[in-house]
Amino acid sequence: MSVQVQGVVARSKGAPVSLETIVVPDPGPGEARVRVLACGVCHTDLHYREGGINDEFPFLLGHEAAGIVESLGPDVTDLAVGDYVILNWRAVCGTCRACLRGRPWYCFSTHNATQRMTLLDGTELSPALGIGAFADMTLVASGQCTKVDPAAPPEVAGLLGCGVMAGLGAAINTGGVTRGDTVAVIGCGGVGDAAIAGARLAGARTIVAVDIDDRKLEKAAHFGATHTVNSRRTDAVEAIREATGGFGADVVIEAIGRPETYEQAFFARDLAGTVVLVGVPTPDMTLEMPLLEFFGRGGALKSSWYGDCLPSRDFPMLIDLYLQGRLPLQDFVSETIGIADVEAAFEKMHHGEVLRSVVVFDA
Ligand SMILES: NC(=O)c1ccc[n+]([C@@H]2O[C@H](COP(=O)([O-])OP(=O)(O)OC[C@H]3O[C@@H](n4cnc5c(N)ncnc54)[C@H](O)[C@@H]3O)[C@@H](O)[C@H]2O)c1
Ligand SMILES: [Zn+2]
Ligand SMILES: [Zn+2]
Repeated sequence: MSVQVQGVVARSKGAPVSLETIVVPDPGPGEARVRVLACGVCHTDLHYREGGINDEFPFLLGHEAAGIVESLGPDVTDLAVGDYVILNWRAVCGTCRACLRGRPWYCFSTHNATQRMTLLDGTELSPALGIGAFADMTLVASGQCTKVDPAAPPEVAGLLGCGVMAGLGAAINTGGVTRGDTVAVIGCGGVGDAAIAGARLAGARTIVAVDIDDRKLEKAAHFGATHTVNSRRTDAVEAIREATGGFGADVVIEAIGRPETYEQAFFARDLAGTVVLVGVPTPDMTLEMPLLEFFGRGGALKSSWYGDCLPSRDFPMLIDLYLQGRLPLQDFVSETIGIADVEAAFEKMHHGEVLRSVVVFDA
C-alpha cells in the first residue's frame, strides 16, 4: 500500500517551497521505504529550488537524513525493517568501470529508487539527489541506506549524508591529510568546518582557516583551526605562508567554489602540495593562470565529490568516532526546526547565520 505524507516541494524555479501531500509507493524490488527522523538543510537544496541543478521540477527536497527502515522490497536481504540508517547518494553499482577497478567511491552508475513518488494528482516528483527526505517517509534504493549505531541521535547522524561527509572526506580521503601535515581551508561553512575537523582527526599539525566572516572563523577555531585569517582584512596567501614556515600548506582545501578563492588555494600550497576543490562552481566561472605555474609547482590538483566517500566504509566508522567523543558532529547543528520552516532556514543560510538547520520529525 502506498502511503500519503507531508513533504517539502519546490514547484517552480525560484518560488518559495511549499508543504504538500505526497504519495510514497510501496517498495518494489531493490527499494526501501524509510521513516525519516531528521534531515539537514543543505546548500544544494537551495540550488535545486533556484533551478541551478536541472529543470526537472517539481522537486522533493532534502537529502541529508537519518531514519528507520519502514518496509522493504521483496528481494532486499541486507536490511531489516527497523534498521537505523543514514541515507546516502552513493549506492554503488558494483559493475561500472570504476567499481570493477576497485574504486567504488567513484561509481558512475549509482542506484536510486526505480518508482517515483508523486503529488496527489499523480505528478511525478524529482527527489533531491535521489533521496527527497524533507518528508515523513521517503522511497530510496536499498543501497542508499547505510546502517549505523542507533546511539547517535538522528539530527547528528543525518549530517554525514551530505555536507559534513563532503568536508571530512575532502580532507581525509581526497586530500589524504595525514599526521604532521599542514592544511589550509578556504571557506568555513559546514563543509569547510568539516574539512577542518577531518584534518584535526587525521593529525594535521597546522590548520589555517580562511573566511570573510569573523563569526565563521570563531567556529572554525572550535573545530580545530590553529590559525584564523579574515581574508577581507589580510591577504590569504601571505597569511597561509606565514603560518607554515613561509612555504605554504601541504594540502589546501577550497570549500566555496569560486575562481578567486581557487587561485588563493593554488598559490597558498607548498611545492608538490595538493589542492582539493570541494566547493561547487557555477557554469559561468572561468580561471586564467600561467601554465608554467601548474608545471613548476608540481603536486596534485583534485576535486572531491561527496568527499570520495564509500558510505558502507565511512558512515559507521565516523559515527563510532563521534560516539567516542573524537568527532564533534553535534556542533554542526545550529538549530533544529520543523518541516514547515525550511524556507526560513534557506534565508538564515543565505545570511551566514547557521552551519546547519536540521528538520526533526516526530518519531
Ligand atoms: N563536492 C561536494 O560533494 C559537495 C557537497 C556538499 C556541498 N558542496 C559545496 O561546498 C560549498 C560550501 O558549502 P557550505 O554548506 O559550507 O556553504 P556555506 O555557504 O555555509 O559556506 C561558505 C563559506 O564561505 C565563506 N566565503 C564566501 N566567500 C568567501 C571568500 N571570497 N573568501 C573566503 N570565504 C568566503 C562564507 O562566509 C561561508 O562561511 C558549496 O559550494 C557547496 O555547494 C560540495
Ligand atoms: Zn559502479
Ligand atoms: Zn547536500
